[in-house]
Amino acid sequence: MTLESIRYRAGSLQILNQLLLPHQTAYDEICSVQHAYEAIKSMKVRGAPAIAIVGCLSLAVELRAGAGGDDPVTFIRESLCHLTSARPTAVNMGRAARELMEFAENESMEKNAEQLRESVIAWIEVMLERDVNDNRKIGNYGAQHILSGVPRDSVTILTHCNTGSLATAGYGTALGVVRSLHALGRLKRVYCTETRPYNQGSRLTAYEAVAEGIPATLITDSMAALTMREMGITAVVVGADRVVANGDTANKVGTYQLAIAAKHHGIPFYVAAPSTSCDLSLESGRDIVIEVRPPEELTSINGVPIAAPGIEVWNPAFDVTPHQLITGGIITELGVFLPSELQAALTGRLTAL
Ligand code: MRU
Repeated sequence: MTLESIRYRAGSLQILNQLLLPHQTAYDEICSVQHAYEAIKSMKVRGAPAIAIVGCLSLAVELRAGAGGDDPVTFIRESLCHLTSARPTAVNMGRAARELMEFAENESMEKNAEQLRESVIAWIEVMLERDVNDNRKIGNYGAQHILSGVPRDSVTILTHCNTGSLATAGYGTALGVVRSLHALGRLKRVYCTETRPYNQGSRLTAYEAVAEGIPATLITDSMAALTMREMGITAVVVGADRVVANGDTANKVGTYQLAIAAKHHGIPFYVAAPSTSCDLSLESGRDIVIEVRPPEELTSINGVPIAAPGIEVWNPAFDVTPHQLITGGIITELGVFLPSELQAALTGRLTAL
């Protein structure tokens, strides 16, 4: 079966409400940019590529209904600015906004409002298709790279958070690599971390693995080092919310400690991300804005309090893994690069932010 997290046809957008997974499968209608903003902010939809795609598709839905009247450019600019503010760490929405705005401004020089709406909608619809194609390439490059180190064996992967069909337009990035290994018959097992506090691993990655018959074992985040020592992990593969020029990578909090533990155990550590998650305008990870989320995500589960009342909480949603720890490479749709090779590999292929 194929998981469909985003359902789009001209003028209509639905998202699988990820807050209800794995117990309920319900699609929410997204009728406006404001709906999409709220869905992104509340994590009904999450994952760097999916945030950008849903944000832009919500704009397409409104444009299809004639939003912006005689001045669609102003409407598009304000909408993109609003959508970009929903979650600051992932670069994908900001990148899409920049590219789309540039496109819309150029188109507006020769097209009337209606024609402009049509061409912006077409631009957005291509995003959806491109993401799935890029993810398949990431899956293939990543699988081949990992297998080149173990020519005959099956491999055991450890992953973090959710980077699958639910976090993208389909197939996934790090989980796409796992899917490709599985399709090749070379995946022994994937260990997925629970991913506290939001449990994207136990709720979402586990859900995808079970749904597709991928051999998977759930561990708590605190079992990762032990799992590396005891379970014959071939490689750690994670996603990214923003990869900057020197290869430093922001990803779901907990990624940094996985990279340290992998280094200690001599296990290659890979980041799998489309080039749209790369941001060459920032030199190092120190410049990445890290989203801090509400304390309730730690102090309660489904509204049931679990922590001592009155305790102070720090809840950064992401951390930055220094490039020195990304020893396997950065897997993109263009190939697998060491952090030191990334900037040269992407220059000229990525629009400036
Ligand atoms: O807070 P989330 O669930 O949006 O965080 C998601 C992650 O950190 C993913 O690992 C990353 O966005 C890559 S998704 C292909």
